[in-house]
Amino acid sequence: MCILPKYSTNIINFSFIIALLFSPFRVSSQNPVWTEVAPGVWKTTVGIPDKFDLLKASGANPNTEALAKLGTTAFPLPASGIVAESTDSKTFLRFPLVKAEQLYGFGLNFKTVQQRGKILQLHVDHYGGTDNGRDHAPVPFYISNLGYGVFVNSARYITVYAGTSVRKDSPEAPQPLDRNTNKNWSASPYSDAVEMVVPASGAEVYLFAGPTPLDVVRRFNLFNGGGCLPPRWGLGFTQRVKSLYTADQVIEEAKAFAAKGYPLDFIGLEPGWQSKSYPCTFEWDKGRFPDPPAFVKTMKEMGIRLNLWTNPYVSPDSPIYEKIKPLTGSHTVWGGLVADLTLPEAREIITGQLQKDQVSIGVSGYKIDECDGYDRWLWPDVAKFPSSTSAEQLRQTYGLMLQKMTTDLYRKQNSRTYGLVRASNGGGSSFPYVIYNDYYSHEDFITALINSSFAGVLWTPEVRGSKTGEEWVRRMQTVCFSPMAMINAWSDGTKPWSFPEVEKEVKAIALLRMQLMPYFYSEFAKYHFEGTPPFRAMNLEPGFGESTVSELKNANLSENPYAEAVTREIKDQYMAGEYLLIAPLFKGQTERKVVLPRGKWYDFYTGKLAGEGEVIQVSAGLDHIPVFVKDGGIIPMMPPLLHAPAAGEKFDLVIRWYGKKQGNYDLYDDDGETFDYEKGVYSWRKIAVSSDKKGKLAGSISRVESGKPDNIGKVTWKMMTE
Ligand code: GAL
Repeated sequence: MCILPKYSTNIINFSFIIALLFSPFRVSSQNPVWTEVAPGVWKTTVGIPDKFDLLKASGANPNTEALAKLGTTAFPLPASGIVAESTDSKTFLRFPLVKAEQLYGFGLNFKTVQQRGKILQLHVDHYGGTDNGRDHAPVPFYISNLGYGVFVNSARYITVYAGTSVRKDSPEAPQPLDRNTNKNWSASPYSDAVEMVVPASGAEVYLFAGPTPLDVVRRFNLFNGGGCLPPRWGLGFTQRVKSLYTADQVIEEAKAFAAKGYPLDFIGLEPGWQSKSYPCTFEWDKGRFPDPPAFVKTMKEMGIRLNLWTNPYVSPDSPIYEKIKPLTGSHTVWGGLVADLTLPEAREIITGQLQKDQVSIGVSGYKIDECDGYDRWLWPDVAKFPSSTSAEQLRQTYGLMLQKMTTDLYRKQNSRTYGLVRASNGGGSSFPYVIYNDYYSHEDFITALINSSFAGVLWTPEVRGSKTGEEWVRRMQTVCFSPMAMINAWSDGTKPWSFPEVEKEVKAIALLRMQLMPYFYSEFAKYHFEGTPPFRAMNLEPGFGESTVSELKNANLSENPYAEAVTREIKDQYMAGEYLLIAPLFKGQTERKVVLPRGKWYDFYTGKLAGEGEVIQVSAGLDHIPVFVKDGGIIPMMPPLLHAPAAGEKFDLVIRWYGKKQGNYDLYDDDGETFDYEKGVYSWRKIAVSSDKKGKLAGSISRVESGKPDNIGKVTWKMMTE
């Protein structure tokens, strides 16, 4: 369906409309023409877009079937309020805002959740401590709390005025006030638009409908192919060992985990497994790793997979150096070549080396470092690449292309991977990679986790070292409620048991992570099949912050906790899956405030009622992180195994249920390791808690369809709320 703007000031010229309809690629129009490209997703093409963009770099394929299930909806904005124009090799975009509107997104911000009032320049970079648009995933996508989202599919450094610019023709233009005499004078008067500059002669723009902000995010993720489904082992625990560790030291480390009873599914090798790093050779160091196949096999026999750190810059000592040289850019990084990854031959040379040397012997994945920033050492914007793709476009998409390249490599082996990457962008939702960085602020790491749900990416608040046992356990508690439960001990070699005073608490949280695997695995399946981010902002939770800002400005917080959700940023609590609300404590805290959304919420550990649509004060000793469960919540858990169940290995299920309401849960199952789920080899089982004739609640779990995966052994039920 095409949405034509209402031309209020122009006389409608029929031939102009025909031209708009039939040559949308050439039109430099005021009000763009929108075409519905999937249910609830509209596209417009402004000016002449670049040949290369975010969706081309990621190769994202919309999941049209799942999008169709979300149903159709009306165009979510007044089309006449959207203005687009291309002139002077730049594209200008404007989207309307109303007074009571909040904006989320614009990438992986670390300090703020609400983005209205920001000026940003979206630029892939290592986060530098300010939410200015430079970050690891500066996705040009924003979501309005009114239930729509806008995505600009351009690999350019886009400048965003997110409700800061004031036009003289604005219907809501603020009245000039005299600063000398009027207390209401403001340096930043009211703005009724999001305006953007794309430094290119055109751009594709997409609009995603709701009705809820969560639906907008779902549509966005599904449009990008759906979220990734990690292998089951990817949701276990991972330890990254110190740089320059030898094969023997790595084996010793794995043995120590087993001996002490700590869970471990994969170990990450940091710089040192390669013969040279910064730039990299992409081949094993023969001194530290004399027999890589035997080493990988020994680890596998212990139930441990391996993930290898690398950066993408090719060392003169790499076996691929000469071959790849003609396919690289004009500038080097630490003396290493920068491959033009838009060229299939360049990608093949790199993946050929990874395949031959590492993937074929069983290495399970990579940590792709240094593809984000900083400017001081990455290629500059003046660099030239053989494909003529600009340095700017490569900067915006390098992380995306590295993820795609390696994901495709694993898909070819029919073996799932789950790794780390330091840069991503729009279109990357389906890649099995988690973003991380060196910034290490615990509080800001949680805000990034919240914001990752608006950007279609995953983020881990990784744990490295800590000054005290208290900080260590608090950090461990949050990383275990994140997409990757990881200690990154590359520099100091810290182990989970390094702080004896909290060893018990740390082990307990690592084992709880393992117990929650059936729940988290199902939540990731929902990310993949339905687009719902497994870890997400409270603002995406139905019943949270629904009222408008103006209504709530003067609200009494104890009477209306949602005022808090809109007028104050909620950047320190989040949802983990359908039913769990996580409220982390940080260093020095023993208690905190938690905003509970509408309905009743129960304590995860005791099953007791914690509150109902209110702001509560909670305290928690080092032995636990506050976690709350929605009324009717069903949490499928398994015993605290030290490794994720392997393909075909049965495991028992302990189903906890909370509250007084009937509830249900969709439990996902497949082999946990291959891509066969893409061919339909998976099963969903319905878990339900419903009341019998006497009003007594009882649980049931549906059978698996014959011939479908079934890894569940004995099922026991645990009614948590008496
Ligand atoms: C950093 C990275 C760290 C670690 C280190 C190794 O760039 O963020 O996680 O891998 O390199 O040198």
